[in-house]
Amino acid sequence: MDRPIGMFDSGFGGLTVARAVIDLLPNEDLVYIGDTGRYPYGSRPQAEVRAFARELAWSLVNDFNAKAIIVACNTAAAAALDELVAEMPVPVIGVIEPGARALVAATRSGRVGVIGTVGTVMSGAYDRAVASTKAAVVLTAAPCPGFVEFVERGQTSGDEIAILADRLLAPVKAAGVDTLLLGCTHYPYLARVIGQTMGPAVTLVSSADETAFAARRELGELGLLRTGTNIVAEHQFLSSGDIGWFADLGRRLLGPELAHAGAWVPQDLRAGIDTSVPPQVH
Ligand code: DGL
Repeated sequence: MDRPIGMFDSGFGGLTVARAVIDLLPNEDLVYIGDTGRYPYGSRPQAEVRAFARELAWSLVNDFNAKAIIVACNTAAAAALDELVAEMPVPVIGVIEPGARALVAATRSGRVGVIGTVGTVMSGAYDRAVASTKAAVVLTAAPCPGFVEFVERGQTSGDEIAILADRLLAPVKAAGVDTLLLGCTHYPYLARVIGQTMGPAVTLVSSADETAFAARRELGELGLLRTGTNIVAEHQFLSSGDIGWFADLGRRLLGPELAHAGAWVPQDLRAGIDTSVPPQVH
């Protein structure tokens, strides 16, 4: 099927998932929206993040004819995945369940950790997702406010991040976890600092690959994968913030597929559209 897969995040973080999707599903067209004009999501109330997530998902379906949505943001998935699955006319795949599966599969001691935004950790979404795997593990969760901002500024190493990491990761270190899930799609870009702080005995897990596998499985089961030979897939990247910055930093983080970026305009800036009501699909 020639329709694109739609993806969104508050900014650059979902590019970690986009990279995995492009690598695993090279035939698929992709439309990625980074809501950089309204990031960070992690410190916002759940209801507001849910409204943003619905707006982005409906835009991907109505404006870009997306055949599936990947919510490439833990904070948005924690706030809105259930609603999106219920209301969207296309399959919706989140990052939390795939991440939880990867986490419990990787641990040996059963002491596992997850780090994420305040919104994600406070939502309890990971406690529920890990519990639903039925794995015999003890989960310690720690919020890491500030990490996302470093990535959005293009700063992925240095003393400032190391000092912050030392403080924010103290609870998961103290819990003696052997595996740590990067429960925010921005965090893989800080993996070197996080890994150094946690030490070599701790395995870092991200949800990007597992989410790409979940997308392949779900689209495959529904007969929605694009098949054929000599397909040159198109990858479109949009931002609600500074497009030049999105293209520059995005290319550095994702790679050459992010050749240029376009503008995505939130509904509250479009005239006369009620954002509280999801638009109808025709
Ligand atoms: N990448 C988003 C996540 O996974 C970051 C949220 C934010 O903007 O704070 O949670």
